[in-house]
Amino acid sequence: MKFSNFPRANIAALPTPIQYLPNLTKKLGGPKIWVKRDDLTGLAFGGNKARKLEYIMAEALEQKADTIVTGAGYHSNWCTQTVAAAKKLGLDIYLVKSAPHEDYESKDWDGNHLLHHLMGAHIKTVRPEKFMETMETTMEQLKKQGKKPYYVPVGGSDPTGASAYMNAVLETTYQANNMGIHFKSLIHATGSGGTQAGLVMGAKAFNTGMQIVGAAVGYTPKEEQMEKVRQIVLDSQKKYDLDFTLRDEDLIVYNEYVGGGYGYMSEAKLEAVKMLAETEGLLIDPVYTATAMACLIDLVRKDTWKKTDNILFLHTGGAVALFPYKEAIKAYVKGEKLPWTIPEWNPAAE
Ligand SMILES: Cc1ncc(COP(=O)(O)O)c(C=O)c1O
Repeated sequence: MKFSNFPRANIAALPTPIQYLPNLTKKLGGPKIWVKRDDLTGLAFGGNKARKLEYIMAEALEQKADTIVTGAGYHSNWCTQTVAAAKKLGLDIYLVKSAPHEDYESKDWDGNHLLHHLMGAHIKTVRPEKFMETMETTMEQLKKQGKKPYYVPVGGSDPTGASAYMNAVLETTYQANNMGIHFKSLIHATGSGGTQAGLVMGAKAFNTGMQIVGAAVGYTPKEEQMEKVRQIVLDSQKKYDLDFTLRDEDLIVYNEYVGGGYGYMSEAKLEAVKMLAETEGLLIDPVYTATAMACLIDLVRKDTWKKTDNILFLHTGGAVALFPYKEAIKAYVKGEKLPWTIPEWNPAAE
């Protein structure tokens, strides 16, 4: 395995703790539920991207880059953590964010959008159809200005970023062994697919016997999501010389919990946010981790596991997004009808 030869910047707070969730376990009446706190990785408000950025930023620095170019959605957690990493390492950063129209700007600066501005990112908002083209022109313009820009794909979901989650499996297995338990399944939110690819690679390469379950957040249909993850695994096997056979059953994706589409609000997601907050005082985000928790709750209700099983929920961060979603959360808490299901900054809203 060539993995150990690749550069790594120590910018994440690792290892993250694994904690038991007794009240949630009791409420659901099923298997023992634990959480891996990757929301505590540092870099702004923490999250899964800090792990990926350790490897991505190390490559950028090796190539003597002075500017990072990346992008994602308007309230992207990925963008927040990448801006934090860039600033920590003294790099400039340009974000391209997809939005309902070109140069869209929300009335309030809230959640991640507020943080992008606060940390001093250069921001361009465009329609999704113009997203890739704008990233390319931004790269070209920066090169013409004599800068050394480094392009990072959405979510850091390439072999470099995904490899970080292989390490996370090693970390988790070590912790589980020390606690004397075995996790039957790990459930997490899957979007650009790098986290799931890395987790699958780790589970296969280290033969952990831990099933990796991805709850799709609605970027793409289920088959496409699985294909995306598969491709990252195959590319990583080449890059890191990983010797295992990926089987169809290694790629588990549920897409029943997106509730209308990416970033849409649904009763199930809001139930998950509220349930975790009021049973454990644990805050999850309404887009990603709420989808994964809605999936976990439903699978427990369907008696998927035995009471003696240990199930690990991977908290991938993003709770700062609770604030832009406050109207929907308030309505849910008060038992009122949701004021909207698609937020105004979602390109599908127009
Ligand atoms: C909080 C959170 N969880 C999960 C994910 C999904 O991770 P990945 O894009 O690696 O599939 C993201 C992606 O942005 C995220 O922000």
